[in-house]
Amino acid sequence: MSEQKKEIVLSGIRPTGNLHLGNYFGALRKFVAAQDDYDCNFFVADLHALTTNPDPAQLHTNAKNILAEYLAAGLDPEKSTIFMQSDIPELSEMYLLLNMHVGIGELMRTASFKDKARKALGIGTPADDSDEAFEKEIIGAATNKRVNAGLLTYPTLMAVDILIQKATLVPVGKDQLQHLELTRRFARRFNSFYGVDLLPEPKDFDFGGAPVKVPGLDGSGKMGKSEGNCIYLIDDPKVLRKKVMRAVTDEGPKEPNSPMSEPIANLFSLLELTSTPEVVAQFRDAYADCSIRYGDLKKQIAEDILKVTTPIRERVNDILADDQYIASVLRRGAERARERASKTLAEVREVMGIRPF
Ligand code: ADP
Ligand code: TRP
Repeated sequence: MSEQKKEIVLSGIRPTGNLHLGNYFGALRKFVAAQDDYDCNFFVADLHALTTNPDPAQLHTNAKNILAEYLAAGLDPEKSTIFMQSDIPELSEMYLLLNMHVGIGELMRTASFKDKARKALGIGTPADDSDEAFEKEIIGAATNKRVNAGLLTYPTLMAVDILIQKATLVPVGKDQLQHLELTRRFARRFNSFYGVDLLPEPKDFDFGGAPVKVPGLDGSGKMGKSEGNCIYLIDDPKVLRKKVMRAVTDEGPKEPNSPMSEPIANLFSLLELTSTPEVVAQFRDAYADCSIRYGDLKKQIAEDILKVTTPIRERVNDILADDQYIASVLRRGAERARERASKTLAEVREVMGIRPF
């Protein structure tokens, strides 16, 4: 039988809370869809979660929850390598090695670092957002708070996650594209410094579909943990219906074919993600001829979201209750992920001159 080499897909999500509809439609659904056609590797990024200094008990619970939600949503350990980032010690060693080729300036200019560093120091975005002003703020911050070095080197660790597995396809949301660009730059730099062709440059991956942005229910922006506007995959039907029924709307269309306000357009985005094209067309027509009742629209959205989330919610608790199963999935995942990781690490050490005597 011919063993055709499949392209390597890799992605992870930080365990900072339960997964919401944004994570599902933006990331997890694509992970599940990729499983049959690619060499898939999905992990829980618990080391990355450490950059914001979580409570240890909370981190442990969140890591288990995300893993259970991965499995409940259809990630299959028979098809994909599913692992916990901290189970792969090779990552930490390669993180040290790759950091020798990463500039502190380029790390400080990363948008996510600026954001998180300011959050850690409790300062907003100042009028002067130049790199120089930012460096002064961070280094000279007259405060007892500090920005930890792990936060600065977050992109190095993410690059290592990808490069150590030689993954070429990385499904992530828009906010992660800058990190992916840095990963490519680090790979190129490493290869050219040592005159090798060892680390492949990864691409963003959307499985043919357009990238989605799942909106919040508060009328603006995106659904996100820090926005406090999430519908969680494990929300109880009563809670979920209540959240949807409370979504912000407007006074309704006054004239036929009026343009939609942002809150209504957001509701239609949710409808499009979860309902059939016929249902979407029916509500669009009702909006166009002003006969729409937002209460009906919300009820429809809630029930259609529940069709997506109910099977996941029903499986999560069984998985969470089965520690043996979780441990066995992770053991197997770590074994497979470490196989490739240790091979790449050995090559990197050799190339850098760390060789046996
Ligand atoms: P959050 O923004 O809630 O903290 P993360 O940053 O942990 O979520 O995101 C994990 C993954 O889910 C990323 O690939 C991200 O792009 C995707 N994602 C998060 N929120 C959304 C959203 N509202 N719409 C689409 N994708 C999203
Ligand atoms: N930084 C990503 C996020 O916040 C999570 C992540 C860590 C990741 N390492 C990765 C995603 C490697 C893709 C590939 O969502």
